[in-house]
Amino acid sequence: MIRTENLTRDFGGGRGIIGLNLHVPKGTIYGYIGPNGAGKTTTIRLLCGLVRPTSGRAFINGVEVIPANTATIKRMIGYLPDIFGVYDQMSVWEYLDFFSAAYRIPPPERETRIRAALQLTDATHMLDYQVISLSRGMRQRVGLAKTLLHDPEVLILDEPAGGLDPHARIEMRRTIERLRDVGKTIMLSSHILPELAGICDLIGIIEKGRLLAFGTVAEVTRKVQENLKITVVVDSDPKPAREWCEQFPGAGSVDVNANEIHFLYTGPRGALPDLLLKLTGNGVRVMEFREDQANLEQVFLSVTHQKA
Ligand SMILES: Nc1ncnc2c1ncn2[C@@H]1O[C@H](COP(=O)(O)OP(=O)(O)OP(=O)(O)O)[C@@H](O)[C@H]1O
Ligand SMILES: [Mg+2]
Repeated sequence: MIRTENLTRDFGGGRGIIGLNLHVPKGTIYGYIGPNGAGKTTTIRLLCGLVRPTSGRAFINGVEVIPANTATIKRMIGYLPDIFGVYDQMSVWEYLDFFSAAYRIPPPERETRIRAALQLTDATHMLDYQVISLSRGMRQRVGLAKTLLHDPEVLILDEPAGGLDPHARIEMRRTIERLRDVGKTIMLSSHILPELAGICDLIGIIEKGRLLAFGTVAEVTRKVQENLKITVVVDSDPKPAREWCEQFPGAGSVDVNANEIHFLYTGPRGALPDLLLKLTGNGVRVMEFREDQANLEQVFLSVTHQKA
């Protein structure tokens, strides 16, 4: 649904984005993570056709983002900018009605569309509020409702949870998941990492204009983790299990904590079931046998070579 081929925008002085290759299938949530100034907003603006690339190409649902296709691209994308304008003397209703007109939604359909969009973002009760009186969290909901008015297939949300308190962030996550469940393809940017791990099907890590990693959270994590971290939980004396683990080729740094055995593993993943068979075959009662994944924060620091 979203695809880029060596997409590049050079602002000079090493700023911009370079050779970006993204591929986001329909119905997925793609989390775009990077520190301030990495190029997230630039990418988003390129995808929406608000900035022209220096080289490379971008496609939305197979349609190239070029001026000749502006109308088609606009119809397919719902864009929530990181900062959106202030509309002082307008109620939420008037604000959404104004954008319905801008999207050329026929007048008889507008009310239905507005109500459907507000319902999806849980903002129906704000209908008569003045836009200026909305809190940041409320404004994000109304902004999101605005992006849904023309029923676009792709939602591109720049820092949708920026400035929100923890409760409002959880609500925003739920809303985003709900939108995926009704079939939208969603790209969202953030520099708040753990917030994305739970809901994203795909993540990309960008720094200084370059995509350093792209894939599922598990894939990206695995790629940067040199050793697999394995945990075995047994229901009795961990000693025999510890010995089997220590003897297993590729296992090292074995450590025991109560009835849990932790070790680092450098061998092939495909050989791990052999260890489990060995344990159970030798009478060890195994409660859990798992690969522990580094969390997104550790992955991010590792990929961008930053120190915590
Ligand atoms: N119109 C422009 N002209 C010149 N430089 C620009 C322009 N837009 C962005 N840049 C530069 O490109 C780089 C990437 O900026 P961008 O806004 O895409 O970062 P970002 O990842 O969205 O950061 P943030 O997390 O702060 O929103 C920055 O160095 C920025 O100064
Ligand atoms: Mg930005």
